[in-house]
Amino acid sequence: MKPTQVLNPVMHEIIGETGFTYLAIVKKLIREGKDVVSFGIGQPDFPTPSHIREAAKKALDEGFTGYTETAGIVELREAISEYLSRYGKVSPDEIIVTTGAKTAVFIAVAAFLRPGDELLIPDPSYYAYSQVAKFVGAKPVFVPMSFEEHEGFSIDIEKFEQAITEKTRGIVINNPHNPTGTVLSPEEMDAIMDLARKHNLVVFVDEIYDNFVFHGTKFKSFLSYDDWRDYVVYVNGFSKTFSMTGWRLGYLVARKEVIPRLIDLAVSVYSCAPSFVQKAGVEALKGDWGPVDEMVKEFERRAKRLYEILSEAPGIEAYLPKGAFYMFPRVKKLLDATGLDVHKLVDKLLYDYGVLVLPGTSFPGELGKDFVRLSFATSMQDIEKGAKRIVDAAKRLTQG
Ligand SMILES: Cc1ncc(COP(=O)(O)O)c(C=O)c1O
Repeated sequence: MKPTQVLNPVMHEIIGETGFTYLAIVKKLIREGKDVVSFGIGQPDFPTPSHIREAAKKALDEGFTGYTETAGIVELREAISEYLSRYGKVSPDEIIVTTGAKTAVFIAVAAFLRPGDELLIPDPSYYAYSQVAKFVGAKPVFVPMSFEEHEGFSIDIEKFEQAITEKTRGIVINNPHNPTGTVLSPEEMDAIMDLARKHNLVVFVDEIYDNFVFHGTKFKSFLSYDDWRDYVVYVNGFSKTFSMTGWRLGYLVARKEVIPRLIDLAVSVYSCAPSFVQKAGVEALKGDWGPVDEMVKEFERRAKRLYEILSEAPGIEAYLPKGAFYMFPRVKKLLDATGLDVHKLVDKLLYDYGVLVLPGTSFPGELGKDFVRLSFATSMQDIEKGAKRIVDAAKRLTQG
């Protein structure tokens, strides 16, 4: 390799998103005529509601296709501020519109972490936070969540407190949680805010699944604390709530004083979010929420059905997730019975049984090696078919 081709060593430490790797594999298998049910990548199977699509078309037809302010058009920041007012007070000049929540995560983590800082992250977690931390020379420190069959996951505040050192700079909270579907209780949130106050921590909050909360569970936002500005850097987006994954629209919220610096980073990364997509975002927030409500109700039914079917699978410890659209069952007994590791199990399910689940190792931390993730943002018909394939596989594999 030419010396010119040698990458920054950190590039060998960061990992990509397994969901996208398997998305490409499944698309290829389907092109080849294979019958595969995918519980892989996390994107709603519903179309983007038509009134949102129409708003984008109108903006295009009116020639709204140029650059916008990096922070996003005022109309959209006002609509976001109004939306967030259900949680707390956020003014339009405390918001930066981004190209998806992922870019917001990048800006937030890159802007606040310094080389050598430690960032506490629940284990398991969405992969991006730790990658950006590593990228800027900070150290991800994983704090294991607790798991119980039929109950699912919870965070352990004491473990977080024990993990704090003088280098700890921040803590990541994704609520509702990808990959486990956990929704924090108000008491757990209070305890996290108390830790932040006591130890002066930045709380990186990702509430991209704020509208996906099921079975009467109550959702509380970190923006509801009067002192959020002193601790919280907040991320949300349009991908999941409005089924707009390919549109690439999200936002970041932080106290006003840091916004100009964050804009300087944002403009270097993406200039602005696509102009006509921002117009569609205004319509999403201010228009009819009927399609979102229907989708969430349907996801709640799917969660129950998936749990019901998977409960029959020997060696798979399923539970009913309270939020997001994922279940992260433990498959350790199945791995022990078969001698497979989780990657081999996932490949076996995909190639021998025609069903894709993601290996838990796609979600950084140590726990994932005994778990798999299923997204139930797929049709009820596929849930029935795919989950039954998993039960069938588990029965056969455990029978030796
Ligand atoms: C927890 C979490 N944060 C952020 C994102 C990124 O979303 P976006 O499509 O808005 O970039 C995802 C997508 O899967 C996610 O699960």
